[in-house]
Amino acid sequence: MIAPRLPHIFYGGDYNPEQWPEETWPEDARLMNEAGVNLVSLGIFSWARLEPRPGVYDFAWLDRVMDLLHEHGIKVDLATATASPPPWLATLHPESLPVTADGVTLWPGARQQYCPSSAAYRDAAGALVRRLAERYRDHPALALWHGNNEYGCHVAACYCDASAAAFRAWLHERYGTLDRLNDAWGTAFWSQRYDRWEEITPPRTAPTFSNPTQQLDFQRFSSDALLALFEMERAILAEVTPDVPVTTNFMGFFKPLDYWAWAAREDIVSHDAYPDPADPRAHVGAAMSYDLMRSLGGGRPWVLMEQVTSQVNWRAQNALKRPGQMRLWSMQAVARGADGVMFFQWRAARAGAEKFHGAMVPHGGTDNSRVWHEVTALGAELRRLDAVVGARTPAAVAIVFDWESWWALELDAHPSRDVRLLEQVGRYYAPLFDRNIAVDFVAPDADLARYRVVLVPNLYLVRPGVAESLERFTAAGGRLVMSFFSGIADAEDHILLGGYPAPFRALLGLRVEEFDPYAPGQSNGLIAADGGRDMCDLWSDVIHLEGAEAIATFAHDFYAGRPAITRHAYGAGIAYYVGTRPAEEYLARLLEGICRDGGVSAPLDAPPGVEVTRRVAGEASFLFALNHTVNTVDLSLPRPSADALTGQRREGAVQLGPREIVILRES
Ligand code: GLA
Repeated sequence: MIAPRLPHIFYGGDYNPEQWPEETWPEDARLMNEAGVNLVSLGIFSWARLEPRPGVYDFAWLDRVMDLLHEHGIKVDLATATASPPPWLATLHPESLPVTADGVTLWPGARQQYCPSSAAYRDAAGALVRRLAERYRDHPALALWHGNNEYGCHVAACYCDASAAAFRAWLHERYGTLDRLNDAWGTAFWSQRYDRWEEITPPRTAPTFSNPTQQLDFQRFSSDALLALFEMERAILAEVTPDVPVTTNFMGFFKPLDYWAWAAREDIVSHDAYPDPADPRAHVGAAMSYDLMRSLGGGRPWVLMEQVTSQVNWRAQNALKRPGQMRLWSMQAVARGADGVMFFQWRAARAGAEKFHGAMVPHGGTDNSRVWHEVTALGAELRRLDAVVGARTPAAVAIVFDWESWWALELDAHPSRDVRLLEQVGRYYAPLFDRNIAVDFVAPDADLARYRVVLVPNLYLVRPGVAESLERFTAAGGRLVMSFFSGIADAEDHILLGGYPAPFRALLGLRVEEFDPYAPGQSNGLIAADGGRDMCDLWSDVIHLEGAEAIATFAHDFYAGRPAITRHAYGAGIAYYVGTRPAEEYLARLLEGICRDGGVSAPLDAPPGVEVTRRVAGEASFLFALNHTVNTVDLSLPRPSADALTGQRREGAVQLGPREIVILRES
């Protein structure tokens, strides 16, 4: 159970009562009851109201809101309210404002206008968090702490002088001496040698490519600088309210923050997801981020902290979720391990930059409202899913995902700027999603013993011990698939010499001599051993076999006939290498075959477009089937089950209408 004080699927949203006259609040509470809301995220942007002048606090209004919610049986995910400092902070401390790499100051008037290394921000935020924690420590509505909000969403890094000083301190901690730093940064190149610590700056806009290791270290530092702020808040909360869990809402595959490091420091992983209803494959990307969230928490249930009921306001055109889509996508999160379905926000705003953002209560009110009808219906359904709370999602396939390698892979001055990690990971994830094969994400140094298939797309940067771990996994009978431009650099972004991909040559049984990146639109062909032909593009490796066999070769160019995709028996397992970006159908067939050989299968045979997952809690097992198509489809159940929402017995054939779902308690 993720929050002992709330043993149900969380249901609710961001509640911003300070934006409304107090007369609205009782109606809010009544409607929350009507909708089945059991948790609200409160106070996320309330700092200026809670501390209208420096050191002058006003909690009376928040007391009344907390009491009102409690009277209505609604728990609170109480924000530390530090996400948007009041304007007075910038007036008193202009140096607390963030500065971009170009030297541009980001001013108040929006939100998140603070430098992560600002002492003034840190002190003011810390003082507020302590006051809040002390005031509400014993309040019966308090169920969860919400640290800040979407750390880094607008300002993930700051290049000001205070940040420069903090960066130097971080570097000092990492390297100890300037000699070590000069060595790690390879400053013999282009006359970059540092003679004194004060000479070092963040990678501010420079005449041309900045030192890659300086850039990489600055990304590490910037993730750590924000994490230090979260840790500051968390330490206060842990001291004052040790029994109340703490979360901060993540943003899926958010590049600036190393969420492996972050997740290790929070009690509950939570996530904000805004798949685009205009994208027919949006649910695939959403699923990928949900699997990441579950994986970040080591398989524990997580919370969908924000999504929208209808439409957002920040795309060029903000497509509306179609009827049934909000329910479908909410249940998708539950199907992939969420024990909470929350929205941004409770009541649609009248003013401000988000007034056209959807909400649980629309501008037009609740009468004759499609959105409100769907909101109350979903609340009623989620109340029937208590038995799902805490259930896990077993997976036999893992995808290795690493933030440091992502940062290093996408630095400038590489063979191709078109190699983007998420695009590559998505290519490996999608065919498994389409076949309903459950996937976990893992850090490169994770224990892989429980998996049968491990995919390693573009693991460019390799830390010590990783190659050995992948070797152990494969030798013990695992199936491993690695893609091109992996095993290239060490943690300092120095090339691993000895022939590419040096740390993985023994495992893969090959050597890559050269890379041939392609221009957009350029492609090559793949010829399989049985003569089958497919396309590939983006990149080709020129490969020498050293024990592996080619299962497909290139069709054209000076390396025509040379290996493109290889297979290498290693111990009791097999290591595959994909030296290009194959056509989607080819990759799908390859991965399907590898999963079949590895004994990995879907929980249920389902027609295309139907997502199937299983969650397991002890003896109880729940099968989720979600029809993402707009057609009626037929499913055939392997054994009789109980419909978790209606209680009815289901067996044999089950029809799912457009965007319909079924959740079965398997016997
Ligand atoms: C983010 C923020 C919210 C709100 C929504 C709008 O998720 O956390 O405060 O701005 O976006 O989509």
